[in-house]
Amino acid sequence: MKNAMRSNRLSTICSYVPKADTIADIGADHGKVSAYIYRNSFAKNLIVNDISADSLQKAKKLFDTLKPNGTAAQFILSDGADLKSLISIPIDCIIIAGLGGREITKIITALMPPIAILDPRKNIPELRQSLLELDYQFIADTHIQDKGRFYDIMCVERRICSLTKKTIIQH
Ligand SMILES: C[S@@+](CC[C@H](N)C(=O)[O-])C[C@H]1O[C@@H](n2cnc3c(N)ncnc32)[C@H](O)[C@@H]1O
Repeated sequence: MKNAMRSNRLSTICSYVPKADTIADIGADHGKVSAYIYRNSFAKNLIVNDISADSLQKAKKLFDTLKPNGTAAQFILSDGADLKSLISIPIDCIIIAGLGGREITKIITALMPPIAILDPRKNIPELRQSLLELDYQFIADTHIQDKGRFYDIMCVERRICSLTKKTIIQH
């Protein structure tokens, strides 16, 4: 697998990325995580998203150096929370790294992806609570060190439960 990242943080994030039809890197900025997904053909469709035009431009510049490999990469300038209304296909997995816990909760609530890989910067206990309330379970939850700083990197999956609350109460 091509993962020549010098950052333990980015390598840890990348190690959780599954193979999926559509993956979105929200707040992609430099585009290194997106480029990893692209290079390793992890997704048929890759959404590279950022709210800042300058940041998205950095990701585009990095992609200009990559060889085409059949992955369809789409660059979308928007708030990550608005992606659902901007693309017509379902997103299987999202990556949100480097944003605050409340912003992450806002985006997850809007998109409700089956899988999310998260690297929050603040309000982490609040984010964990919101994820549980939104029916996500923790598949991985790691505390890592990178260049003298500590990070909580998590991979969560939405529970698929066929019993609705109403059915549970009736039985
Ligand atoms: C600190 S950088 C993190 C870059 C990269 N994901 C990483 O972890 O190294 C945060 C990026 O998220 C973008 N951003 C902030 N809020 C956003 C939102 N609501 N939707 C999409 N992008 C957002 C910023 O413009 C910035 O490029």
